[in-house]
Amino acid sequence: TVHDCKMIELPRMYDQRGSLTHISNGVQVPFDIVRTYYLYDVPGGESRGGHAHQELQQLMVSVMGAFDVIVDDGSEKKTIRLDRAYCGLYIPKQIWRELINFSSGANCLVLASMLYDEAEYIRNYDEFLQVKQR
Ligand code: TYD
Repeated sequence: TVHDCKMIELPRMYDQRGSLTHISNGVQVPFDIVRTYYLYDVPGGESRGGHAHQELQQLMVSVMGAFDVIVDDGSEKKTIRLDRAYCGLYIPKQIWRELINFSSGANCLVLASMLYDEAEYIRNYDEFLQVKQR
C-alpha cells in the first residue's frame, strides 16, 4: 500500500567543507541496487512518471532542488515532497507514481532493483487497477 512508501534517512557527513551522503547496497536500501538513473533538465510545469511497475522497487532522492511524488496504490494516494539530498523515498512494486512540481534545476536520483524492462511497466491506469484487484 502507499503506507509502504517510506522515507529513508540517509547518512549525512557534514562539515565546513559541505555535505556528503553515501548509499551502499544492502545497507540503506531494502533491495539490491542493480541500476541507477537520474532525471534533470525538467522544464517547469512538466511531470514525470505516470506509471507503475510489476516488480521494480526504487529509492528516489532529490539530490538537488525539490519535487513532489504522488504515490497511489489504487485505493489511496499520498503526496510526498522530496527536497533533501539525505532523504530517500522507497517505492515498492505495484505503486502508481507521478512526479510533479519540479523546482528549476531539480535532480532526481533513482536507485532501482532491476534492469530496465519496458515489459514490466504498467503504463495504463485501468490496467493498474486490474492488477491491484487480482
Ligand atoms: P520514462 O519511463 O518515460 O520516464 P519516467 O520515469 O519519467 O516516466 O522513460 C523515458 C525514456 O527513457 C523511455 O524511452 C524509456 C527510457 N529508459 C531507458 O531506456 N532506461 C531506463 O533505465 C529508464 C528509466 C528509461
